[in-house]
Amino acid sequence: MKIRISKRFRGRFCAAALAGLGLVLFSGQTPLQGADKPMPQVVTTNGHHALFVDGAPYLMLGAQSHNSSAWPGTLPKVWAAMDDLHANTLEIPVYWEQFEPEQGKFDPSIVDLMIKGAREHNLRLVFLWFGTWKNGSGHYIPLWAKSHPDMFTHITGSRGGRHVDSPSPLAEACMKADMKAFAALLSHIKSVDPVHTVIMIQVENEPGAWGSVRDYSPEAEKVFAAPVPAEFLKALNGRNGAKSASGNWKEVFGDNADEYFHAYCVAHYIGQVAAAGKAQYPLPMYVNAALRDPLTNPRAGSYESGGATDNVLDIWKAAAPAIDILCPDIYQNDTAKYLAVLDHYARPDNTLFVPETGGTGNASRMCFAALGRGAIGWSPFGLDYTRATPAELVPVGMNYRMLEPIMREVAQLNFEGKVKAIEEEAGQTSATLDFGAWSAIINFTGAGGRRGGGAAPATAAPAGGLGARGAAGEAGAAAAPPAPTGRALVAQINEKQFFITGSSCTIEFKSAFGGQRDWLRVEEAEQLERKPNASHDGKDYSSASAFRVMRIRNGDETDYSLPFGTEPETLRVTLGTY
Ligand code: DGJ
Repeated sequence: MKIRISKRFRGRFCAAALAGLGLVLFSGQTPLQGADKPMPQVVTTNGHHALFVDGAPYLMLGAQSHNSSAWPGTLPKVWAAMDDLHANTLEIPVYWEQFEPEQGKFDPSIVDLMIKGAREHNLRLVFLWFGTWKNGSGHYIPLWAKSHPDMFTHITGSRGGRHVDSPSPLAEACMKADMKAFAALLSHIKSVDPVHTVIMIQVENEPGAWGSVRDYSPEAEKVFAAPVPAEFLKALNGRNGAKSASGNWKEVFGDNADEYFHAYCVAHYIGQVAAAGKAQYPLPMYVNAALRDPLTNPRAGSYESGGATDNVLDIWKAAAPAIDILCPDIYQNDTAKYLAVLDHYARPDNTLFVPETGGTGNASRMCFAALGRGAIGWSPFGLDYTRATPAELVPVGMNYRMLEPIMREVAQLNFEGKVKAIEEEAGQTSATLDFGAWSAIINFTGAGGRRGGGAAPATAAPAGGLGARGAAGEAGAAAAPPAPTGRALVAQINEKQFFITGSSCTIEFKSAFGGQRDWLRVEEAEQLERKPNASHDGKDYSSASAFRVMRIRNGDETDYSLPFGTEPETLRVTLGTY
């Protein structure tokens, strides 16, 4: 594909183009190692999913920046936060309005800067394409397109025909312009990123419409009254309640027709954008959804309509096959709802990935709920120093420091169905994770333990919910009952070996075949260093598979089961019986 680069960026782009021809020149650096690494891809085997990076499953210990952080002046505050978090993956936007400031002239300078910074800070990148949709609106559409009436149209609401602050998915010219810009972005990434620093792309952001179930403009009414596209119905194959193999939207989908029509139109549009990008460079692609209540089947119109909400996942799969994963943005302040969302999106035909979530305070333990359901990654929103404080980052950083010595192993073992992980629930004192020949018994020592006199963890927040952000969540802790904060992960390496980590709990093992458990060996991992440009045995940080033994535990450190407090500890245990 040919893309026009504005004069200011032409020099840099020429270097990039040479890189695409196999001559690796990047920002004046020496040739990059690993240019022959395979493409990142989503792989599903026996109902288990993995994101392959450099040819092996990869666990995304993610964090998303704030919306306006992708600028040269704010990036230093992003890198500093990622270092402190021990995140291995940064999700950060690429704004259409910034990437194509004049029609047909592309400015990839910020993309290059982010790739360079990510490499220096041991990070992989997920770019968020803020194109036609951002939170249901079109606020990142470039000015030149917005001011062009043929290019951009708002949808028309049902009541009184007023325009709604949401782009029409039927605006063909806008879709074509978005496709072109997105294809230019992917083509550019391909040319400058032979080592796959960029591992995945989010296409648009929380697409759909707030304030109207669908577009009710005269043009949209015509399409709504026309037959449902046959190819789509074939792919849908009767799912999502499709009543007949042909007919118009009302005939096929009855009372759900308005919402399903909008979901199809949005998904089809975004599927085309994704396909145009993949034709240049086939990175894995996903769509994120603003959710509806996962337990009550609420009425259409009470949540963002047309996005990949749990009730229209089949429609999205059928209408947008170029999208690899449909993902939930989980902001539920209630663990039953949080878990229900995870269960809705973890399907044999859909990889579980949480690209946005609240994650501060005791909500950070929900990372383990996601991993326990086979998630390929988890990524709280807004964890950079443009707005977040260092204190807010501590609980997520604790998770990532526990997991990073075993991140590759956990991804591989999760892909094989050998990982179990849990979060403590209010009122819960213990849990058993069954591995057949062995059971892991978790006793919670935070909230549960404090009922029995244990110490309060640093991240406590009021009980009953996931806790407010940072200090606000901690303020009420003195008066309220203790909040659940415990978490644990157990991954089976072979018949008698496990990786284990957790916090505010103890972990013990029991043999199903009788005999008493013997710790043949308990090894503790060395924590990974996170200095910019740090090298790990000659490998870059995120491809280092890194259980390195720091010490062997024995005596008081093993005689009374294995305690996990509020400092990161990651163990490999070898079990026997006597
Ligand atoms: C969800 C959106 O996807 C994000 O970009 C951001 O706007 C957050 N909401 C704000 O909480």
